[in-house]
Amino acid sequence: MLQLCVNIDHVATLRQARYRDRKNGEPDPVAAAQICLDAGAHGITAHLREDRRHIIDADIPELRRVVRRRFNFEIGNVPEIVEIALRVKPDIVCLVPERREEVTTEGGLDVIANLNSLMETRRRMNEAGIEVSLFIGPDLAQVDAAEAVGAQFIELHTGPYAHAFHSKQERTAEIERLVVASRHAHACGLRVNAGHGLTIENVPLLHLVPHLQELNIGHSIISRAVTTGLEVAVRQMLEVMDGYLG
Ligand code: PXP
Repeated sequence: MLQLCVNIDHVATLRQARYRDRKNGEPDPVAAAQICLDAGAHGITAHLREDRRHIIDADIPELRRVVRRRFNFEIGNVPEIVEIALRVKPDIVCLVPERREEVTTEGGLDVIANLNSLMETRRRMNEAGIEVSLFIGPDLAQVDAAEAVGAQFIELHTGPYAHAFHSKQERTAEIERLVVASRHAHACGLRVNAGHGLTIENVPLLHLVPHLQELNIGHSIISRAVTTGLEVAVRQMLEVMDGYLG
């Protein structure tokens, strides 16, 4: 069954817009995580960025306490944040590229160019009992490099697919890239997740991509929650994921 991890960063973005300097501002990402889990989400994803623009350090132990299902901790491969992840012990760490000027994570990791440092972080995480995923574009050379790093998972970057969705020709090409990359990763023994830019509109076509285990979805669910409520937004996403054949 295709699993849903809800990314609750955008709940924290809204809180930080008003309560940057105060504790206990609303909306509370930990309470949101609980609602997502109660609505049937299989896990929660959160990204502690170096600039702390949304999730802040104080959220992390609370999230770890509440998220008894899968806690997917997104981090950049930088020493300060790696040490925090080792202390928090999430179920899985997803290593992502991070640039301060970007609005959200914009591209996949260049695993080839950062092989040694990613290998070292992967080793330390695994020794602490934490699985490791690498967020990459659907590029076969990057998949091979993820295998060389020894990662357990890749997360395929679906941003370009989401961006191309309204052109039939372009979205078909992007789906084909995801299909080929996912097959190759599976053949290499990697498990495959996907995420970025996914919506209830573009998830159904993603059923064409084989071997997916988890989707990480944030912005669309949290945005829809403003009008439908979070529980309904999570349930509607689970409905369009249902029936995935793998
Ligand atoms: N996966 C990764 C690695 C991400 O960085 C993000 C965005 O934080 C997501 C998934 C979720 O993307 P979106 O908010 O567009 O659903």
